[in-house]
Amino acid sequence: MMLAIQDYTQLTDAEAEARIVAAKQTLGERLVILGHHYQREEVFRHADFSGDSLKLSREAANSKADYIVFCGVHFMAEVADILSRPEQTAILPDMAAGCSMADMANLANVERAWRELAEVLAPDEQVTPVTYINSAADLKAFCGRHGGIVCTSTNAQRVLEWSFSQREKVLFFPDQHLGRNTGYKMDIPLEEMVVWDFDLPLGGLTPEQIKQAKMILWKGFCSVHQMFRPEHIDAFKAKYPDSYIISHPESPFEVCQKSDYVGSTEYIINTIRDAAPNTRWLVGTELNLVNRLHQQFKHEGKHVHFMSPTVCMCSTMFRIDPQHLAWVLENLVAGYVVNDVHVAPDEAVQAKLALERMLEVSP
Ligand code: 13P
Ligand code: SF4
Repeated sequence: MMLAIQDYTQLTDAEAEARIVAAKQTLGERLVILGHHYQREEVFRHADFSGDSLKLSREAANSKADYIVFCGVHFMAEVADILSRPEQTAILPDMAAGCSMADMANLANVERAWRELAEVLAPDEQVTPVTYINSAADLKAFCGRHGGIVCTSTNAQRVLEWSFSQREKVLFFPDQHLGRNTGYKMDIPLEEMVVWDFDLPLGGLTPEQIKQAKMILWKGFCSVHQMFRPEHIDAFKAKYPDSYIISHPESPFEVCQKSDYVGSTEYIINTIRDAAPNTRWLVGTELNLVNRLHQQFKHEGKHVHFMSPTVCMCSTMFRIDPQHLAWVLENLVAGYVVNDVHVAPDEAVQAKLALERMLEVSP
C-alpha cells in the first residue's frame, strides 16, 4: 500500500535520518539524490551530488539512475525530467517547494509582452528571449520556439553573448537583477536596460524606450536576495576594512557593484574555499549555504558572515525536510512513485531545445 505523508510528519529528524539511510541502501544505484546548495543540512547530507543550477542540470542529464530525487525547487525537478531519459523519473519530495521568483513570470504574461513588443518592432527578428533557469517549463518552451535560450547564474554572460549574436535585443525574464548585473558587466549602459512592468500596457514603456533598449528586463526578483542592501556592506566594511564581499547576482545592482566578487552558489563556495586562511567574508546569498560555509572553513581561520542583519532564508527550499525525503524514498522501496514531476511531451521538446542551446554555450 502507498505510504501516506501523515505517517511521516511526526518523525523526529533522527528517525527520518535513519530511514533515509536504510532506504538509500536498499535502492542502491537505482536512485540518485541531487541537492542544491540552499538545502538545509539535514537534507543536504544525503545528496549524492550537490551543486548550483547548472551543475545539477548536468548531473540530471548524465545520471543513469531510475529515480532522480531532487532536493531543490520545482523548476529544478522539471529540468531533471526534461533532460533525463523518458524511462527515468524525476521526484520532488514536497510539491509545494516552488520558487517565488519563477512565479513572477508566466506564459500568459510573457506571450502578451511578445505581442505588445510586436506593435513596436519585429520580436522574432530583433529580440532573443532569455529565461533564467528559475522559471516554469512552459517559459523555457517559449524560448525554445522563439529562437531563445535558458541561462543560469554561472553562464549568464556566455548566454547573453550568444543571444546578441543572434538578434540585436534581449528580453530577459524573470530576474531583472541577474539581467542587469550581467548586462552591465558586458558594458551595456544602464539607460539601455529598461524594466518591463508586466502589470502595465507595453510594460509601462514608451515605443521610443523600447526601440532604444538593448535589454528589456522583466520586473521580477528573488525575495531572499532583495534583502541585501549596500548599507549592510558599508557597515561591515567600517568594522572590518580588510574583509571581502561576495554576492550572488540575484542581489540588487548596488550590492553587486559594492562586492569584490559576484557569482553563482558554486562560484561563492569555490572562491571562499580557495581564499587565503584568516580572511573575512561577507556573503550575500541564502542563509543555509552561508551557515555551511561558516562551519566548513572556520578551522582555517576564515570568518564567514551573512550579509543581512535579519534572518532570511529561502522558505520554499526549506520545505524539503528529512520527513518528506524519507516518505518518497520508502515509497520507492515499497514500489510506489510519489511526487513525480512530468513536463508535457510537446512542451518538453521545445524546452529541451532552449536548455540544449544553453548547455552548448556554457563553460
Ligand atoms: P545557483 O545555485 O545556480 O547560483 O542559483 C541560485 C538560486 O537561487 C537557485 O534558485
Ligand atoms: Fe527562488 Fe530566490 Fe529561493 Fe532561489 S533563493 S529558489 S530564486 S526564491
